[in-house]
Amino acid sequence: MSLLETLQVQTLPEKYKSLTQDEMEKRIWEIKKELGAKLFIPCHHYQREEVYQFADAAGDSLQLAQISAKNRDAKYIVFCGVHFMAETADILTSDEQTVILPDMRAGCSMADMADIHQTERAWDMLQQLFGDTILPLTYVNSTAAIKAFVGRNGGATVTSSNAKKMVEWAFTQKERIFFLPDQHLGRNTAYDLGVDLKDMAVWDPIRNELIYECALENIKVILWKGHCSVHEHFTVKNIEFVRKKFPDMQIIVHPECSREVVAHSDLNGSTKYIIETIEKAPAGSEWAIGTEMNLVQRLFKNHPDKKIISLNPVMCPCLTMNRIDLPHLLWSLENIMEGKETNVIKVDEVTASDAVLALERMLQR
Ligand code: 13P
Ligand code: SF4
Repeated sequence: MSLLETLQVQTLPEKYKSLTQDEMEKRIWEIKKELGAKLFIPCHHYQREEVYQFADAAGDSLQLAQISAKNRDAKYIVFCGVHFMAETADILTSDEQTVILPDMRAGCSMADMADIHQTERAWDMLQQLFGDTILPLTYVNSTAAIKAFVGRNGGATVTSSNAKKMVEWAFTQKERIFFLPDQHLGRNTAYDLGVDLKDMAVWDPIRNELIYECALENIKVILWKGHCSVHEHFTVKNIEFVRKKFPDMQIIVHPECSREVVAHSDLNGSTKYIIETIEKAPAGSEWAIGTEMNLVQRLFKNHPDKKIISLNPVMCPCLTMNRIDLPHLLWSLENIMEGKETNVIKVDEVTASDAVLALERMLQR
């Protein structure tokens, strides 16, 4: 028995593999029309174009969380994004609404880098070292269990577009922050707020140890040793190459890139910030973009008056975001039409009630 069968995850029936793109698109438009306001399709900016065209709302992680919190009309939310985003949508919507992820394999390698047992273990050790001086913050790119841990301990979620505001708030609550699971977003944000790099420690969840250079009492930020397996592929070498080959080109990257890459770039910011910067840029301007490839390709297509390249020429899209494709989207929708709900994302009540505290502390700011 395969792992997916053991977990009772349903996989795409064979019949969807032989349909043409036109057939699938036509059927999806028909179902959207039939279901009307009962169906809502939120879509992250990193989704494939073939799926993105069906979005009722598109956004970055923060916008999608805000949209989910507001939407009370749709009975079915077919989430085109990754697992943690669908969990967030389930936590923020009512019990009468059903959140569906078209392919259960659409996870996030960064979110998988912090499990709740590792986190509880780390927290116990950090409490022994620092007492009650730490506030946990988690990037929304984390499991519902981690969000619940953060909520229980007075902390909040953050996204790349509000990380500065949330870290500033966290320092009004406690002396130190524990930032999960993306060390790069945590480091880049704290650095921008004036925290010295040497006052930032790293928690290694595999070796169960705190890595630091300064005196223990000077540590201000504890970064979980996690990263995004897409954004880690942008390097300082890529930047040096672009600077040499295209001297007029500006380099803009997502803060999930390493500190070195962000420091060598011209601009950095969330998905929303990158999109808005390119939209506002004058015709003829030149951009090397360090973020997910589906988004870079969309920006390239939507702005023919600007020269746009990927900062890394051999970059591929986020593999898990890419798992949501036309066959899976159609399959989810046809199941709804037949009264069968497949791949439903349901966070248990106890976890959801703690996780919502962390999400609401973010959404209120
Ligand atoms: P944002 O949508 O917050 O920019 O995050 C990017 C990302 O990696 C989503 O998985
Ligand atoms: Fe996760 Fe990175 Fe993919 Fe976003 S781009 S879903 S953080 S692996």
